[in-house]
Amino acid sequence: MTTTLLHQSAADVATPLLIVFAADTATTKDAPASPTLLTTNAAIQTAATPWLTSTDFKATLGETFLLPSPAGIQAQRLLLIGLGKAEKPGSPEGVPGPLGWNLTPHELRKAAGVAIRFARPRTLRTLALTLPEHPSLPAAPSIRAIAEGSILADFDIDFYRADRKDLSIQSLTVLTPEAVTPALQTAFNEGVILAESQNFARTLINEPGNILTPTELGKRTAAMAAEFNLACEVHSLEKILELKMGAFASVTQGSPQPPALIVLRYEPANPLPDGPVLGLVGKGITFDTGGISIKPAADMDKMKYDMAGAASMIAAMRAIAQLKPNVRVLCVVCSCENMPDGHAFKPGDVVTAMSGKTIEIMNTDAEGRLVLADGLHYAQTLGATHLINAATLTGAIGTALGQINAGLFSNNDETTQHFYDALAITGEKFWRLPATDDYRDQIKSQIADILNSTGSRYGGATTAAMFLKEFVGDTPWIHLDIASTTWLDDPKPWQSKGPSGIAIRTITEWVRSYAK
Ligand code: BES
Ligand code: ZN
Ligand code: ZN
Repeated sequence: MTTTLLHQSAADVATPLLIVFAADTATTKDAPASPTLLTTNAAIQTAATPWLTSTDFKATLGETFLLPSPAGIQAQRLLLIGLGKAEKPGSPEGVPGPLGWNLTPHELRKAAGVAIRFARPRTLRTLALTLPEHPSLPAAPSIRAIAEGSILADFDIDFYRADRKDLSIQSLTVLTPEAVTPALQTAFNEGVILAESQNFARTLINEPGNILTPTELGKRTAAMAAEFNLACEVHSLEKILELKMGAFASVTQGSPQPPALIVLRYEPANPLPDGPVLGLVGKGITFDTGGISIKPAADMDKMKYDMAGAASMIAAMRAIAQLKPNVRVLCVVCSCENMPDGHAFKPGDVVTAMSGKTIEIMNTDAEGRLVLADGLHYAQTLGATHLINAATLTGAIGTALGQINAGLFSNNDETTQHFYDALAITGEKFWRLPATDDYRDQIKSQIADILNSTGSRYGGATTAAMFLKEFVGDTPWIHLDIASTTWLDDPKPWQSKGPSGIAIRTITEWVRSYAK
């Protein structure tokens, strides 16, 4: 999809499909909907306003209304898309109430996605979209959200279908009522970079385990690094053993597929000599059978996405390489399969991690924390002063938070605040859960330093986080458990079924928050 930001009157654009947004500006909870066009363009208002009152269009979020052959404008079709309620109930009209606006650029990200997914099956290839005008939608974040939402919505998962129809959008023009300033163009470009990186990760996550082996993940990462000028090393088992990564090595030993230890580095042009070094660490299990503690057959196919944490970090590096923040960043991905065979590690085994800690294996299905233990330790030896890891780590995170919020655990409030500030920019949802030392007893072992699994149903996401915490020392650290949010089982009006690409935008913003 080519994307263009253009200052032009929306009424004058000859396009198969012109998109205009509307919000419900009713100010009380029980008042009837008051759909209002968010454009001051007189010709568009003349063409569309009669339909706002004569139909049951209420401008709820994602609601669409198509006007074929609209009068007085150049577009062949006009598509109205709802953004939902503009004001929080109780606000005086046109003024944000004490709780602020209900409408934010985050709704716009979704609504832009609705436009794309409306056009695709109708084989409309060229779209123009008018930037909405409303005090709750400042131009720069709105433009960025539109770029993100559109590119994310143009993704589908049917790569391997012989009858696959290419429905992708060829060109999208975002029309601005004001001149396109450098700041607006930058916001637009940032949205494109972030969403394209997110789609890069979604493509990796969607790949089946037989195709995306650890070796293949290494190859695709190296190709991306070459394209975007990142330093990249892909190490084999020999190096993993040389580094004494006994936890990582134990997981890979049941698989005939060679593991890959991937390291990416981003060096800014003028780094501060004593500035932070951010370490991004990803769980890259390209297929998780559970190993000897084998998983039930139902849904095991989903375990191809057990490398989503790795894909998120690689994709964040792809975005960072283009956004060029003035901060050093390195990325460590530990990738292997978790398979049962005669060589596989077993419950009861004791393994020694790179840090020197001994781990008693209680359950070979708790493998993600093992590879991350070595990845987190290795990132510190490479110089990381701050750590963030992403992993499809536990089913328990879904029990705790469902599929709306992903889990966040940390040993440091300050870096967590950086992450929260990043969330406000990206619109992603993470919820902090405890990883305090009163949970430490649950991973005590009688015969080694720690257990890799407690065997208890209680607090499974936290006990996994407690395990990781053993390997970060005092380094400020964030653990993101994305197990229940990385795969969408049902499509949304703005998003395909399948890999969501969660965490990439926020990890990238977290990194940028350390730039000086
Ligand atoms: N990859 C799984 C976690 C997972 C579950 C991801 C569902 C996505 C969807 C992880 O390796 C795992 O199997 N965890 C176990 C841990 C248990 C053995 C302590 C789990 O969650 O059941
Ligand atoms: Zn597992
Ligand atoms: Zn796993």
